[in-house]
Amino acid sequence: MPCPSRRAALAHAAAVAALVAAPAAFAQSAAPIKVGLMLPATGTFAALGDMIEKGFKLYVQEQGGKLAGREIQYFKVDDESDPSKATDNVNKLIKRDNVDVLVGTVHSGVALAMAKAAKENNTLLIVPNAGADAITGPMCGPNIVRSSFSNWQPGYSTGVVAAQKGYKRAMTITWNYAAGQETVKGFREAFEKGGGQVVKDLNLPFPNVEFQALLTEIAAQKPDVVFAFFAGGGAVKFVKDYDAAGLKKAVPLFGSGFLTDGTLEAQGPSAQGLQTTLHYADSLDTPRNNAFRKSFALTYKQNADVYAVQGYDAAQILGAGLAAVKGDIGKRDALTAAMRKATVDSPRGKFTLSAAGNPVQDMYLREAKGVNNEYRAVAVKALADPARGCKL
Ligand code: BEZ
Repeated sequence: MPCPSRRAALAHAAAVAALVAAPAAFAQSAAPIKVGLMLPATGTFAALGDMIEKGFKLYVQEQGGKLAGREIQYFKVDDESDPSKATDNVNKLIKRDNVDVLVGTVHSGVALAMAKAAKENNTLLIVPNAGADAITGPMCGPNIVRSSFSNWQPGYSTGVVAAQKGYKRAMTITWNYAAGQETVKGFREAFEKGGGQVVKDLNLPFPNVEFQALLTEIAAQKPDVVFAFFAGGGAVKFVKDYDAAGLKKAVPLFGSGFLTDGTLEAQGPSAQGLQTTLHYADSLDTPRNNAFRKSFALTYKQNADVYAVQGYDAAQILGAGLAAVKGDIGKRDALTAAMRKATVDSPRGKFTLSAAGNPVQDMYLREAKGVNNEYRAVAVKALADPARGCKL
């Protein structure tokens, strides 16, 4: 049995050890969550990346700057929407910065490289835009979710509307990469199911904007309708060129909503009256959307768009996961399960995630009026991506 003085010395040593350990444990549990934002800050999608970041940060700010009591620390990489740099770029966040969660990106080709890296390194990934079907298809995984859409979804819903309007012969035009090809595929699936026929697909390399030869071909073929997928700076130029070529009055132009989202000011009169489908409409008159748009406008002195909504909802999904584990991001299984089970109270309307981790959501028919994409109707209710090839 230790003598009293030895016992006192041991007790003192234990107390000192506890004092040393306690702040270390506290610091660990209170350390910020490291969020790696991999988004375009340059190039044709730069404005889209900016809006996603603003939306994400707005939600965090509305929660007092913390999610589930944890501070958020941001690490940023400009991915330039360049798939050839994507693996190096994502590794900066995963290996150099050691982030807890990746949030990115806009471009489908870049996002595919991010999903591969996230799987190989078992890093949590929330995709706030890129629609690459494979991410919630063959590449699906428990650590990957999307707050946006699959490319198939807006393509399909626009095909439904175009067929309902009675158009029979369609031409499509897009950039030749995953987002363009898959959106057109979704359009064709619904349009041909509805009795129409796609008579010709036109495309050009991303992010090329020399549309003239293709517009001449549309004028020569005179289809009943044109379906287009372009976004960001490319969408601005395409819509203006379509109008300048005299086609706006001659051949109705339809598109997934990216054709006119975040672009209306720059497109001016050329975009007015264009109808598109998307999972968001600026004018959705719900308390949730009105509060979001007000908060966004007050914070950033600009109007929100679909990209801001997707960024905001990416933060909501992360928040739902963290709340379920009381901020302990190490409890990965419980965290990802809660993220996937969340009902997200989005400005677009409430939505849930499919088993593959993709939003099951209403697709709206919208019409460009002034600087808003105004709600016209629900084009397809609760549209779920088929998640072809996803095995969990
Ligand atoms: C994409 O590459 O997936 C994409 C880019 C911009 C808007 C929508 C989709």
